[in-house]
Amino acid sequence: MFNTFCCIFLILSLTSGTVIRDFQVAQPPVVPVYAKYCTVEVFSHDFANSFVAGPAITQLSPPEDCGPVGSWAAITLNLTVTTNGTQFDRLGIFTFHNVEIWRTSTFEPTIGDGIVWTYIKDVTQYMPLFTESGEFLLELDNLIETGLDGIYSTTVAATYFESSAEYPPAEKADIIIPISTLSNTTADDASVPPAFSLNITVPNNTVAVYAEIFASGNGLEEDWFFNVPDEFFSNISPNITSPHDGFREVRLLIDGLVAGVAFPYITVFSGGFIPSFWRPIGSYGIAELPTYFVDVTPFVPLLTGNSPHNFTLDVVSAEATHTINPNWYVSGILQVILDTSFEPTIGNMTVHSASNYADTSITGSVEDFGQFNATVTATRNIHIEADILSGSGQLTHVIWTQDLQFSNIQTYRNNGLLATLKQTSTGNSSSTHNGVAVLSDVFSYPFSTNFDYLDETLSNWTSSIDHSYDRILLPNPLRIASTINNHQTTDGFFQLGSEKIGNFGNGTNNNTFSYSDVKGNTYTRSVNAINSNFNDTIAIPFDKIGGNLAH
Ligand SMILES: *[C@@H]1O[C@H](CO)[C@@H](O)[C@H](O)[C@H]1NC(C)=O
Ligand SMILES: *[C@@H]1O[C@H](CO)[C@@H](O)[C@H](O)[C@H]1NC(C)=O
Ligand SMILES: *[C@@H]1O[C@H](CO)[C@@H](O)[C@H](O)[C@H]1NC(C)=O
Ligand SMILES: *[C@@H]1O[C@H](CO)[C@@H](O)[C@H](O)[C@H]1NC(C)=O
Ligand SMILES: *[C@@H]1O[C@H](CO)[C@@H](O)[C@H](O)[C@H]1NC(C)=O
Ligand SMILES: *[C@@H]1O[C@H](CO)[C@@H](O)[C@H](O)[C@H]1NC(C)=O
Ligand SMILES: *[C@@H]1O[C@H](CO)[C@@H](O)[C@H](O)[C@H]1NC(C)=O
Ligand SMILES: *[C@@H]1O[C@H](CO)[C@@H](O)[C@H](O)[C@H]1NC(C)=O
Ligand SMILES: *[C@@H]1O[C@H](CO)[C@@H](O)[C@H](O)[C@H]1NC(C)=O
Ligand SMILES: *[C@@H]1O[C@H](CO)[C@@H](O)[C@H](O)[C@H]1NC(C)=O
Ligand SMILES: *[C@@H]1O[C@H](CO)[C@@H](O)[C@H](O)[C@H]1NC(C)=O
Ligand SMILES: *[C@@H]1O[C@H](CO)[C@@H](O)[C@H](O)[C@H]1NC(C)=O
Repeated sequence: MFNTFCCIFLILSLTSGTVIRDFQVAQPPVVPVYAKYCTVEVFSHDFANSFVAGPAITQLSPPEDCGPVGSWAAITLNLTVTTNGTQFDRLGIFTFHNVEIWRTSTFEPTIGDGIVWTYIKDVTQYMPLFTESGEFLLELDNLIETGLDGIYSTTVAATYFESSAEYPPAEKADIIIPISTLSNTTADDASVPPAFSLNITVPNNTVAVYAEIFASGNGLEEDWFFNVPDEFFSNISPNITSPHDGFREVRLLIDGLVAGVAFPYITVFSGGFIPSFWRPIGSYGIAELPTYFVDVTPFVPLLTGNSPHNFTLDVVSAEATHTINPNWYVSGILQVILDTSFEPTIGNMTVHSASNYADTSITGSVEDFGQFNATVTATRNIHIEADILSGSGQLTHVIWTQDLQFSNIQTYRNNGLLATLKQTSTGNSSSTHNGVAVLSDVFSYPFSTNFDYLDETLSNWTSSIDHSYDRILLPNPLRIASTINNHQTTDGFFQLGSEKIGNFGNGTNNNTFSYSDVKGNTYTRSVNAINSNFNDTIAIPFDKIGGNLAH
């Protein structure tokens, strides 16, 4: 089956009473097509002054009418938000049973009748959480004040797909353990710096542990890739950028030993660079921020002695001090597989070759104040091996490796007003258990941009971005391998306005996406947008959707 919807030409006038439908390009979750399912509303909530009012919190219980609890073929969440007015982009964090399960961000509203967006998130991999009643929370901190009146009216629904012979129950971990603050009143992400540590005790019959890490830059770290190395920072106005260089490594340590790392993808939020780039096509990752995967199984022999161990998440730069600015929000999930024997797992970590920090270098040349080049490079090699003997006698040889490369080349000209950045981040992480691949992550996240302030007022600028997300990912053996290629190019102009006349901007956004997985599911979309609020129009000259998931 191959569906193509081609070449819609659409022009929406923002003043004509139209609610603009924003979206991030992504594949629809792979779920049973002709199966029974149960949809339950989780909550409906207006995020108004939620910095003060706090998150939406509800008790979520498993449905009883879609087959035995925990035997579902898939579970999805539907987040639908409408907003009308003026508002900044905001971060949204979902936690369930104190485990972060989804990090999202909002679109910025336009004038007229506002915007709506829906994103369907596959949460099948968190099924152990959905089999028990527990606290379900969305923290989406928002501010309502003079000039900011956009309320995020939010509906969240969960859909459970009944399993059948054709659609068997999804594979699931035996238990899920959070690396989180365990707060019941806020989202459970930790703010770093400083490094976040938590004592975790795993069952003594644990035989495998797969970590997933959430991490995003905020505040002075939102544009971390544009931060200037400390040794060059005196050559630019602090009004333009921040110190501590453009390299970031997210680290997971266990009892002070590096277990695995991530070179993060750049998620550009909807107020980023030029807000009019992101109407109606969001930047890739905005609705579902990418996460990172580490096979923690080589540490199992150290963890199964019935005692707590120190799990640490932090984010470091290439500076000698590894310092970053405030702040990053981090959390983690451990998917734990147990032996059927109830006897303790034993074994030995036989190789641990992972330095505390990546190998980094900072170079550059200064011609004058506001006129310099700076380059940061990093490489990372991790190699950890272990022999693991389960209580039931299964011997497993585990090899976990990471081989990552990074470079961030910044040039500043014209008194710092003209910046260019060319960043590449590539890598190959791999884990085998007795020679069988259980985790594999081959990625490339190139990002290049020009950012050109038109004068010293810093009140108008032009910019362009060329950004890709190319990833072949098998996150852990509970899921399947997929390949995603997304390429986005944007350019535009922005003028900060007075309160009376508001901001003006325009932008084009061209987005090409493809998804495929080892089960033969495919999805492609090519969509271009031209957005201008000089004459209040959004045009979609081109939108082509294909692949067998395009139903
Ligand atoms: C998601 O929820 C919205 C709001 O309830 C609804 O209109 C929409 O049909 C839902 N989408 C899917 C795919 O379930
Ligand atoms: C959006 O807000 C404007 C200005 O307050 C108002 O005129 C309009 O009716 C609102 N639209 C919707 C769909 O609520
Ligand atoms: C959160 O709630 C759980 C279950 O009610 C409770 O066991 C735990 O102590 C609470 N955590 C905090 C930090 O209050
Ligand atoms: C972790 O547990 C150890 C004892 O096993 C204790 O000394 C330490 O203070 C605990 N750390 C935290 C962060 O709770
Ligand atoms: C393993 O853990 C179980 C459950 O906590 C406990 O009953 C048992 O005594 C432990 N076995 C050993 C050898 O520590
Ligand atoms: C930074 O901005 C402030 C306030 O707008 C201004 O007073 C100051 O001169 C600027 N600094 C530089 C180095 O441009
Ligand atoms: C946990 O490990 C981190 C990183 O090595 C360290 O900074 C911290 O002091 C440790 N915490 C405890 C309680 O041992
Ligand atoms: C761990 O090392 C000890 C000491 O060398 C050895 O006796 C034991 O067999 C090893 N265990 C495994 C599972 O390889
Ligand atoms: C700085 O970078 C620009 C753009 O890549 C290049 O043309 C120029 O030669 C570089 N200057 C120095 C001094 O390295
Ligand atoms: C940029 O903004 C400044 C201050 O508002 C204004 O004087 C200038 O004309 C603008 N430049 C362009 C090209 O719009
Ligand atoms: C987007 O695609 C159009 C049509 O192919 C092209 O004219 C335009 O230059 C592209 N814009 C960007 C920013 O790549
Ligand atoms: C955006 O506006 C600027 C300034 O008016 C103009 O030079 C540029 O051509 C416009 N670009 C697009 C894509 O509309």
